[in-house]
Amino acid sequence: MSDTLLQVLGVLAAVAAGLWAWRRWHHPSFWLAVGYPLTAVSVRASWRKVALGCGLTKKRQRWWFTTVPGLVASTGIVRVRRKFQRVAVDTKPFMWLPKPTRYGWRVTVHTLEGQVPGDYADAAERLAHSWGVHAVRVSSPRPGRVVLAATMRDPLVKVDDLPASTELLKVTVGRLETGGPWVIDFRTVPHWLNAGATQSGKSNLANALVQGLAPQPVALVGFDLKGGVEFTPYSPRLSALATSRKECVGLLEDLEELMADRMTICRTTGARNIWQLPDDLRPVPVVVLVDELAELYLMADKSEKDEIAKTSTALLRVAQLGRAFGIYLFCCGQRIGSDLGPGVTALRAQCSGRICHRVNDPETATMTLGDLDPAALDSARAIPAETPGVAIVASQDGQWYRARSFYVSEQAAEQAALNHADRAPSWAEITGRAYSELLDTIPEPRKG
Ligand SMILES: Nc1ncnc2c1ncn2[C@@H]1O[C@H](COP(=O)(O)OP(=O)(O)OP(=O)(O)O)[C@@H](O)[C@H]1O
Ligand SMILES: [Mg+2]
Repeated sequence: MSDTLLQVLGVLAAVAAGLWAWRRWHHPSFWLAVGYPLTAVSVRASWRKVALGCGLTKKRQRWWFTTVPGLVASTGIVRVRRKFQRVAVDTKPFMWLPKPTRYGWRVTVHTLEGQVPGDYADAAERLAHSWGVHAVRVSSPRPGRVVLAATMRDPLVKVDDLPASTELLKVTVGRLETGGPWVIDFRTVPHWLNAGATQSGKSNLANALVQGLAPQPVALVGFDLKGGVEFTPYSPRLSALATSRKECVGLLEDLEELMADRMTICRTTGARNIWQLPDDLRPVPVVVLVDELAELYLMADKSEKDEIAKTSTALLRVAQLGRAFGIYLFCCGQRIGSDLGPGVTALRAQCSGRICHRVNDPETATMTLGDLDPAALDSARAIPAETPGVAIVASQDGQWYRARSFYVSEQAAEQAALNHADRAPSWAEITGRAYSELLDTIPEPRKG
């Protein structure tokens, strides 16, 4: 008897060890084969209780078969009558079967009358605690439907690399909380603001961009107001680099001229932007990286006033018109607040891509992310210092995501810049191109 017991215990221990090892060494397959089915059953089974507890149910009148206590008979036995009657019943929202995702599961829910996705977003934290998951994110693909996406653990504690994007002006810089790639696509969102406290990972993201854009046929331009310490190592791949305010003024003037030239060529050929130009006429796209944006606006004394006004206007013009003429901005800074002047506020309005790393004060998060969902602001403030590179990303789809950039050391970005130095067009080549000569090559009918 005790032998059989020992054998059973041995088998159980072996199975438990096997499952532990499976979970440890190949979590994705373990999750699909074992974890997910158990979770799906328990989520469906507990949905009524969870929805009730999280305040997501509604009272509805239903016909219900109820028992009504009747008379107490002389024997002391309570006689009950059974009958159908209308009673108010707590109704849960209809839930589809949860589907597995890389880091958890997601499920579609039909909203009840009077409910909006915001009700579910408000209950997200309660749902996460009820289901014992890291976080629940709410989105609404169409009216009347809400998708609840649960992540079992924080997927951003460690992010593994993804293959580089091969498309022009698209760079995979990290991973989203959903497990998907975090892509910065300048053709969809042309200008970006990248804010965060010191050591929050802003420059790491710029490194990732340099590494990703270096092999592409684009010109990179750096504005490094930290005296050049950040971008100078990448100068082999940069077409131009400004490290002081004076140099910035000059480079911004060049960019404005470049824009004017590109405007002329587009107008002459009847194109609305450089992408509508024939291949042989299309100028090279320019990505402008700015580190420590605030330095461009900070005034030590009155003598700098004119210079600052010039810089601010030029940068704003580049942001307003650059998109059509293939000039894209990526501005990093610790604070991008209106206290720096009206130029910054106007620039912010032109940058539809927003990235907010860890911040020390709620104002910076609000200034960077605008009036996005308050949950996004809370999330930005909750980013721990131990996970540099984690950020809240908002782009034009109106959604926000938690994401983390891949770690790209300065050495790696420097190496990429060196390896692709031959891809860097010289600044003279970009700006000094004789547009009148170029226009002469355009066949007559295409001229304005
Ligand atoms: N995605 C990441 N994964 C791992 N470590 C990271 C990541 N991003 C940044 N780090 C680490 O955090 C440190 C600070 O990052 P970074 O220099 O990019 O911060 P920063 O926001 O530019 O700071 P500062 O405002 O001082 O320039 C880096 O030395 C790097 O080691
Ligand atoms: Mg930095």
